[in-house]
Amino acid sequence: MKTIAFLSGKGGVGKTTLAANIAVALAQRKKHVALIDLDPQNAQRLHLGMDPDEIAGLVREGISPGSLFDSPFGIKFIPFGRVTGSELDDFEAQLKKNRRWVADGIESLVKGSFDFVILDTPPGPSVYLQQALMAAQRAMVVVLADAASYLTLPKIESLVQEYTAQRPDFEGVSILINQMPTNSKLGHQVRSALYANYSKNLVPIAVYKDARVAQALAFERPVLQYEPGCKASLNIQNVADWLIDSTDQ
Ligand SMILES: Nc1ncnc2c1ncn2[C@@H]1O[C@H](COP(=O)(O)OP(=O)(O)OP(=O)(O)O)[C@@H](O)[C@H]1O
Ligand SMILES: [Mg+2]
Repeated sequence: MKTIAFLSGKGGVGKTTLAANIAVALAQRKKHVALIDLDPQNAQRLHLGMDPDEIAGLVREGISPGSLFDSPFGIKFIPFGRVTGSELDDFEAQLKKNRRWVADGIESLVKGSFDFVILDTPPGPSVYLQQALMAAQRAMVVVLADAASYLTLPKIESLVQEYTAQRPDFEGVSILINQMPTNSKLGHQVRSALYANYSKNLVPIAVYKDARVAQALAFERPVLQYEPGCKASLNIQNVADWLIDSTDQ
């Protein structure tokens, strides 16, 4: 079982979209996948068509075999859940006290029942990122092919190093470019710069900017199911194949 944390320095780069869709692509490849939303925005459920009034989830039920929902897209899923401000404060206080709350929860899932556990996190440093990095064997840093993403990479790398320093089972960081523009000189320059400076870490497939991704979200479905043949879906499937090859799962 491999736990992979999706993270980013900058917000709105596509972590939630890619975490959901890569999870679905892995399930389509007969992998057993659990997706856990560690972001109080509680937005992961939007990609999976889950009832917005559902209040169960991470905060109320924790991480256990009984708190996993069956999503119609072949994966097991724990939403963050709908919570009040004071419930959120209490929950975050609990996470600050026990840095291994998420890691212990994942370990409580039946051994051998999952090939992949995918964690979605809020952007930048947070108690959720810290929890994710105490649990994950791999970190998938999602970036845009722009200067702002490029410039935040050293900061996010040092955060990952700090939180995983005591973890001999942590395998490392991969960098995944999302929303790659088709015709942008700057986009291609940033991609080349990333390749030049992070060639060992860069995922060899970029996910292109594709209007179908936003359309799929409007229908509360993964783009992989909404339009399996579109450019972004094909890129996402290639990333899933790469992930399977590079983790020997
Ligand atoms: N490859 C893509 N092509 C086109 N639009 C995309 C693509 N990936 C993501 N988007 C759009 O970008 C927006 C942000 O995506 P998303 O919510 O997944 O980002 P995020 O990194 O999880 O954001 P946050 O930091 O707030 O958690 C959404 O409107 C989504 O539909
Ligand atoms: Mg998100």
